[in-house]
Amino acid sequence: MARVLLGVSGGIAAYKALELARLATVAGHGVRVVMTEAAGRFVGAASFEGIVGAPVLKSEFEHDPLRGAFPGDPQPQHDPIGHLEVAANCDAYLIAPASANTLAKLASGFADSMLTTSFLACTAPRLVAPAMNDRMYASAATQANLATLKERGIAVIEPDEGRLASRGEFGRGRLPDPVRLLERLEAVLPGGDRPWDGLRVLVTAGGTREPIDPVRFLGNRSSGRMGLALAVAAARRGADVTLIAANVTLQAPAGVRRIDVETSAQLAEVARAQFPSAHVLLMAAAPADFRAAEVASAKLRRYDGLDLHLEPTEDILAGLSAARSEDQTIVGFAAEHGEGGVERAKEKLSRKGADLIVLNDVSDPSIGFESADNAVTLVDSSSETPVPRASKDEIADVILDRVAALREGRQSSQRADTQSSP
Ligand SMILES: Cc1cc2nc3c(=O)[nH]c(=O)nc-3n(C[C@H](O)[C@H](O)[C@H](O)COP(=O)(O)O)c2cc1C
Repeated sequence: MARVLLGVSGGIAAYKALELARLATVAGHGVRVVMTEAAGRFVGAASFEGIVGAPVLKSEFEHDPLRGAFPGDPQPQHDPIGHLEVAANCDAYLIAPASANTLAKLASGFADSMLTTSFLACTAPRLVAPAMNDRMYASAATQANLATLKERGIAVIEPDEGRLASRGEFGRGRLPDPVRLLERLEAVLPGGDRPWDGLRVLVTAGGTREPIDPVRFLGNRSSGRMGLALAVAAARRGADVTLIAANVTLQAPAGVRRIDVETSAQLAEVARAQFPSAHVLLMAAAPADFRAAEVASAKLRRYDGLDLHLEPTEDILAGLSAARSEDQTIVGFAAEHGEGGVERAKEKLSRKGADLIVLNDVSDPSIGFESADNAVTLVDSSSETPVPRASKDEIADVILDRVAALREGRQSSQRADTQSSP
């Protein structure tokens, strides 16, 4: 995997750089961190050092115990000049967060710290992720500095709009989610590890809404986080990803094709159209099992009373798997309550014709729906594997590893069949 140099400057969003360092390390990259003096007022070097397993670099005059090497790489015999060595060894250099002050220095070519000297000396792809108050971001000086950096081929990861650190303030200036920062970083890494290059992956996410009248619906609590995490993880492996998003308010990852739907009938229709060209289907959405048999054309009034008749919706997963081809891999998700979940997941596996069921125990309110974490059991025809509580990003990677193993297993048995046939 790649050698990533992460520069952290002084802003409130520096805490997000810790998560970015963690995600990049979990993704298998060797990470070195460079901090400005001001960054040290917001987060501690010890946290970065614990996460990436290498000393943080702060001053160009300090001795680097690793002599500019990245974790996992051998150290040189000689003692090189620190800022030049890390800059020469990295595959990409990302400054996140990039403060207004640091952007001004980078645009002007300052070389007064480890961060600025190594940035100046770096010939690998360089990225900056500005994060600051919206007025600081919109200021003519900051915008001119960003324009200068862009002109010089430095990628600028635009900040998000939303709630800002200072109380009650909203605007553009938020550092994007670390998952998105890592995606942007990985997109510039040379010949990154893309084992799913050429694979088309269809992911469904979110929960459907079945209308009762023009303003009310039957819905569920699925946020779409698990589906989005799967889409991100598949795209990171190089897959061509289509996401069918049912009422998902979260932003889809860059590079993923997104189709929005509302009802289970719409989800079924879009999935039917997309499925034939997909190699892998990850059915993480929670489509409703029932819908109103009749939808009122005008808003129902309380004093008229309500006698709601429900009818079952289409079984989307079973319908798709009935039309599957040999080389398609189908993953279903089962939200089960309490004991007997594994047995019900096994029954679902065969009834729905899926290759893998990801079982979610929804009796624990601290995981699953709407939560950033999950704990699941992977159930396939020959095994059941509990995956302990972890972030949905980590769970997504475990699921994709299993999909890769299932596909590899099927391909090798197909090869064996071909060789043994006369
Ligand atoms: C509480 C606090 C929060 C700050 N947040 C930011 C910020 O989000 N973005 C920014 O550009 N500057 C922010 N600053 C100002 C920088 O810390 C300051 O400009 C510093 O000199 C930046 O140094 P550096 O670019 O060398 O890291 C903040 C300052 C304080 C005191």
